[in-house]
Amino acid sequence: MNIADLVQTRRTTKAFDPARKLTADQVAQIETLLRFAPSSTNAQPWHFVIASTEEGKARLADTFAGAHGYNEPKIRNASHVVVLCARQALTDDHLAQVLAQEQADGRFADDAARAGQHAGRAHFVNLHRFERRDAQHWADKQVYIALGFLLLGAAALGVDACPIEGFDQGAVDAALGLREKGLSSAVVVALGFSAASDFNARLPKSRLPLNEVITRI
Ligand SMILES: Cc1cc2nc3c(=O)[nH]c(=O)nc-3n(C[C@H](O)[C@H](O)[C@H](O)COP(=O)(O)O)c2cc1C
Repeated sequence: MNIADLVQTRRTTKAFDPARKLTADQVAQIETLLRFAPSSTNAQPWHFVIASTEEGKARLADTFAGAHGYNEPKIRNASHVVVLCARQALTDDHLAQVLAQEQADGRFADDAARAGQHAGRAHFVNLHRFERRDAQHWADKQVYIALGFLLLGAAALGVDACPIEGFDQGAVDAALGLREKGLSSAVVVALGFSAASDFNARLPKSRLPLNEVITRI
C-alpha cells in the first residue's frame, strides 16, 4: 500500500448507497482499530457506539432533523455509523481499570513499574483536571486521534466514510443515553459505500500547497 496514494484517493462521502453493507470482517477490523488507537498516557478516555441496525441508525438520524438535516441522509443510508464519545471525567475508577488492564496484559515487571506507570498517568490527568482545568477538552483531543485512525483505516479497507461534526450533541447524547454512562458525543463517522449521487466523488481533491503547510528546518 502506498500511503500517499491512499490519502489522495480517500475522500468524504456525501451520499451513501443504502444497499451496500460492510462485511463482518471490515466491521471487526474497524472495531479493532478503534480499540487500538493511541491516547496520551494510554488513558483511553473514550467509548464508541456503532449503529448498524435500522432502529439504531433511525434513532441517531432523528436527531439530525432540522438544523443538521443536510447530514441526515448520510446517517440513514450508511451501513454503519460510529459515534465517537469522550468520557466526561477521568475518574479514579477508570484509571484503576486501565492500570489493571495493563497489568493483566503483562506490562509491568514488578510493583515499582506498576506504581511508576500509575504516577505518570496521574500526573497528566491531574494536570488537566486541576491546573489546566481542560480535562474534557483533553479527552476530546484523544477521541480525535481515534477519528484520524478511523478515517485512514476505513480508506485502507476500501470503505467510504463521512466524518460529521454537524450534529446536535445534546440530542445525540440523549438519544443514546450517553450522559447516564458518563459519556458525551464528540464526533460521528458514517461508513459505507458511495452512491451514484455522491457529488464529492467527481470533484478533485483540494489542499493548500506543500510549502504552505510544512516547514523543514
Ligand atoms: C472533524 C470533521 C468534521 C466534518 N463534518 C462534516 C459534516 O458534518 N458534514 C459533511 O458533509 N462533511 C463533514 N466533514 C468533511 C470535510 O468537509 C472534509 O473532510 C474536507 O472538506 C476535506 O475533504 P476530504 O475528506 O474529501 O479530503 C468533516 C470533516 C472533519 C475532519
